[in-house]
Amino acid sequence: MNIILLGPPGAGKGTQARHLVETRGMVQLSTGDMLREAQASGSEMGEKVAEVIARGELVTDEIVIGLIREKIAEGAEGGFIFDGFPRTLAQADALTVLLSDMGQSLDAVVEMSVDDAALVARITGRSTCGDCGEVYHDETKPWPADGKCTNCGSTNIKRRADDNEDSLKTRLMEYYKKTSPLIGYYYAKGKLKKVDGLASIGDVQAAIAEILG
Ligand code: AP5
Repeated sequence: MNIILLGPPGAGKGTQARHLVETRGMVQLSTGDMLREAQASGSEMGEKVAEVIARGELVTDEIVIGLIREKIAEGAEGGFIFDGFPRTLAQADALTVLLSDMGQSLDAVVEMSVDDAALVARITGRSTCGDCGEVYHDETKPWPADGKCTNCGSTNIKRRADDNEDSLKTRLMEYYKKTSPLIGYYYAKGKLKKVDGLASIGDVQAAIAEILG
């Protein structure tokens, strides 16, 4: 199965993708994670995109399609979860072609809707484990009191440079201008499924499980 998790920043795409990796053996392709890895590695591309990401703007289609093309070529027995990709109509068209070249297609596009006020609270309270990527939130899923990640025991807590109110405003604007048209695009293709992203993490997991069967 190949699916897209579609939603604004903070909708819970990464949280749900990690669960699907653990429970269904799917492969998560997060263009945000790939771009942050490129930044951390100090590569030329990483340096080029660092300021764009910090401002909350979208990186060029050419760069992200190139990243996805490389990963898709590696294949995935359990199927791919596209997390944060596609974000533009050009990216969506490119994904159709890339999958079709591999003899594959998309099974579902899960739209996770969350209202803007909740997104601000989610993003500004988020932290992640710098070693295993487990996602936490200051109020709803706090970093354990003993200072160790529940998943891997690391004490390496991280906060993203773009997780502040200013960048978030731009990220939201980019979402509404460039990414939200994909909702209609995938609806027209008969692929769109909606889940209430405001529900608890467990309830969202259950709703997605029902969609995937
Ligand atoms: P990216 O890394 O993709 O960030 P994003 O889309 O802004 O999404 P987030 O990772 O912030 O949120 P999420 O939906 O994964 O939420 P999470 O599960 O963490 O992109 C970053 C940047 O890279 C972009 O701005 C752009 O510059 C660039 N980029 C990336 N892809 C690109 C592309 N394709 N094209 C161009 N540029 C690209 O959850 C958030 C918080 O909420 C957590 O603390 C979590 O614990 C909590 N939470 C989750 N679910 C729930 C729930 N149900 N109830 C309560 N709390 C919850």
